[in-house]
Amino acid sequence: MYNENGDVMLVNMKDILKSKTVFQFNINNLEWTKAILEEVNELKEPVILGASENAIKYMGGYKVVSQIVKSLIEELEIKVPVVLHLDHGKNIESCKKALEAGFTSVMIDASNYSLEENIKITKQVVELAQKYNASVEAEIGSINGSYTNINDAFKIVWETKIDALAPAVGNIHGIYKKKPKINYELIKEIKNKTNVPLVLHGGSNLPDEILKQLVESGINKININTDLQIAWARGIKKYLKSNKKEYDPRKILEPGSEEIKKIVKNKIAILPK
Ligand code: 13P
Repeated sequence: MYNENGDVMLVNMKDILKSKTVFQFNINNLEWTKAILEEVNELKEPVILGASENAIKYMGGYKVVSQIVKSLIEELEIKVPVVLHLDHGKNIESCKKALEAGFTSVMIDASNYSLEENIKITKQVVELAQKYNASVEAEIGSINGSYTNINDAFKIVWETKIDALAPAVGNIHGIYKKKPKINYELIKEIKNKTNVPLVLHGGSNLPDEILKQLVESGINKININTDLQIAWARGIKKYLKSNKKEYDPRKILEPGSEEIKKIVKNKIAILPK
């Protein structure tokens, strides 16, 4: 999207999460980011690009990530709304760096602190983000198969005025070793009580029926990273197996991008039309 001067404009999450559920696809390199942007543009769907602190470090820093995303939007003439979001910002300093670099959304993950401390830190990030017209996501409870307390969820939303909340509802990051025990009633109750967009971390390797039920229960943002990593590696490994002598990175990495596009397409297909 462009502003009135024709400059590339990233959007924050506030408006796009009000009307529909949007996937956060995590990015890990240039080709990966390009593949996601090309696919969502083809599908005419908004997207949240999530970058973790480690991925940002790997890619060269906050400014590099921001410039890669903005430049791709411009060069590829991406027309859909794109949010650039810091995933699991560990402290105020990380959020500040992201906002200064042009990220339009940040997650402050102070969930390992006491509720009071989590609220205090999150409040400071919300104040900071307001100066950049950026959105803020916070986490409460641990995303390790546990369950967030409804009153705590209400308290953090009420006191901090965050734009999105990531509760623990039986979900985990990475590969589910056994069938997750997602508490859909808890999602509905948190949604009713807080009236804030809810985020599901650990959206990978969940069957479509579960993803659909999550959306129906009130989840507005679903985060996917591991599924993309597995698909990317699968594409590249398969290619190298039958092209052992190939050394051109463009040829080696392309099948990874193709696999990423398939995941993006398949995930978006579960969303209600
Ligand atoms: P997965 O790696 O399990 O998809 O989780 C991604 C995530 O929640 C990023 O915050």
